[in-house]
Amino acid sequence: MSFPTDRPATWFVTGTSRGLGRELVTQLLQRGDQVAATTRSTERLLAALGDRVDTSRLLPLTVDLRDDEQVRQAVRQATERFGGLDVVVNNAGYGYLAAVEETSAREVRDMLDVQVGYFRTDFLTTDSLALPASTTDAYPGLREMTENHLKLQGSQLGNPVKGAEAIIRQVVSGEGPLRQLLGSDAHAYATAKVDALRANLKATAQTADATDFADA
Ligand SMILES: NC(=O)c1ccc[n+]([C@@H]2O[C@H](COP(=O)([O-])OP(=O)(O)OC[C@H]3O[C@@H](n4cnc5c(N)ncnc54)[C@H](OP(=O)(O)O)[C@@H]3O)[C@@H](O)[C@H]2O)c1
Repeated sequence: MSFPTDRPATWFVTGTSRGLGRELVTQLLQRGDQVAATTRSTERLLAALGDRVDTSRLLPLTVDLRDDEQVRQAVRQATERFGGLDVVVNNAGYGYLAAVEETSAREVRDMLDVQVGYFRTDFLTTDSLALPASTTDAYPGLREMTENHLKLQGSQLGNPVKGAEAIIRQVVSGEGPLRQLLGSDAHAYATAKVDALRANLKATAQTADATDFADA
C-alpha cells in the first residue's frame, strides 16, 4: 500500500488518551490527516487534546478492545465517516510484570486481547503497568525487577514526541525496515537477544542431528 498523496490519509489508532497514542493523534491532526481514535474514555482523550489541535477531523471512539463486536463497530463507524482506512496503528497495551505461576488465565486473555525501548510516558506507572493480583515469595528477583521498573519512571530514554514523529515519518515515506526499533535501548536489547540466540545455535550445532533417522 502506498501512502495517499492526493488527499489527507485516514489513520485508525488504538489507545489514544495517553502516551504515544495521544502524541500520534496530536501530530496526525496537526498534519491535516483524519484520525479514528479508540480509547476507553473519549472524555479523557478530548481533555488531553484540549485546544492544542483542531479536532474536526477526529472521530473519537469508546471501545473495549476485548470485545470483538465493539472493535468491528468502531471500524464500521470509521469507514462510514472517512470512506476507508489507510493506516492502522495497534498501539493500545500495557506492561505486565509477574511470574507465570502468579498469572491467571483471565489476566493472560486480557493482555493478549489488547496487545501490540522504554518511552517516557505513563507506561511504567501503576496506572498502566499491570501487576498480579497475588504474588509468591518464591521469586524475589521478580519483585526486584518490578521495583526497578517503577523507579525508571521519568528517566526513560525515549521521547514520545520523537517516537510519534518517527512512526509517522516511516509510514509516510513507505520506506525502511519491516521492524523499526525505536530507541537505542530497544536496539541494545534486541541485539543481546539475537546474540544469545546465535550462541545457542552454535552450542547445539554438533548435537542437533542426534535425533535424525540414521538413513535420512
Ligand atoms: N513506554 C514504554 O516504555 C513501552 C515499552 C514497551 C511497550 N510499550 C507499548 O507501547 C504502547 C504505547 O504505550 P505508552 O508508552 O503510550 O503507554 P501509556 O502511556 O500507558 O498508554 C497506553 C495506552 O494504551 C491503552 N491501554 C492501556 N491499558 C489498556 C487496557 N487494559 N485496555 C485497553 N487499552 C489500554 C490506553 O488507552 P486508553 O486509556 O485511551 O484506553 C493508553 O492510552 C503500548 O502498547 C505499550 O504496551 C511501551
